[in-house]
Amino acid sequence: MRTSTERGAPRVKVHAKKDFPVAEIRRLLEPGPIVLVSSAWRRETNIMTMGWHTVMEFTPSLVGCVISSANHSFDLIRRSKACVINLPNMDLAETVVRIGNCSGRDTDKLSAFGLTPLPGTAVGAPLIAECHASFECRLVDARLVKTYNFFVFEVVKAHAATTPRYPRTIHYRGDGVFMLSGRARGGIAGSFVLTCCDLARRASRRNRQAEEPP
Ligand SMILES: Cc1cc2nc3c(=O)[nH]c(=O)nc-3n(C[C@H](O)[C@H](O)[C@H](O)COP(=O)(O)O)c2cc1C
Repeated sequence: MRTSTERGAPRVKVHAKKDFPVAEIRRLLEPGPIVLVSSAWRRETNIMTMGWHTVMEFTPSLVGCVISSANHSFDLIRRSKACVINLPNMDLAETVVRIGNCSGRDTDKLSAFGLTPLPGTAVGAPLIAECHASFECRLVDARLVKTYNFFVFEVVKAHAATTPRYPRTIHYRGDGVFMLSGRARGGIAGSFVLTCCDLARRASRRNRQAEEPP
């Protein structure tokens, strides 16, 4: 039998594997970039954090997304049949987590998090000015929404910054652990842990600082 080494490929380390819980495989498969999904219905706009998305086709440009029916965004997107998928970079890491831990049912997240909504050209949902890219999407297939909360969108208009060429995007590994893509200063991609507890601690530190006399 020919091995890859016989064909001239470098020898690559073999990885010994153990049983792995099937419900946890997402920790290894999931890390596409975390995105912010904006939506609008009638006078209301909203934004949510999303990690469960997948490219499905080049032309038409199709993206599949799992949006839980428990989320307020689910209703806005199902009614408007549209959304904008915004790609944040590491500057928005903390904001992205906070947006994913509260609901538009009781918070106007765009203004609460100081994000700038810009009008789209094809859909009613806003583009987020602070994000590296924004993809305007129309819902083209809702057959799997009932069974899997799975929406198939067509990207009908895309907007992207030209620099940096490779933005440092945020990737979720589960359990509050995030990873940044791209090259860090003097090194390679890094990872960081940002849990709800960290966020609560930072918020109370900020509040204390605000209360302290100058
Ligand atoms: C890192 C991260 C990734 C998330 N990914 C998804 C996702 O793929 N699908 C989903 O339905 N919710 C996801 N969520 C949860 C929603 O962002 C969260 O429920 C949000 O509060 C919904 O807001 P809404 O009620 O205003 O729509 C994620 C949250 C975080 C922090």
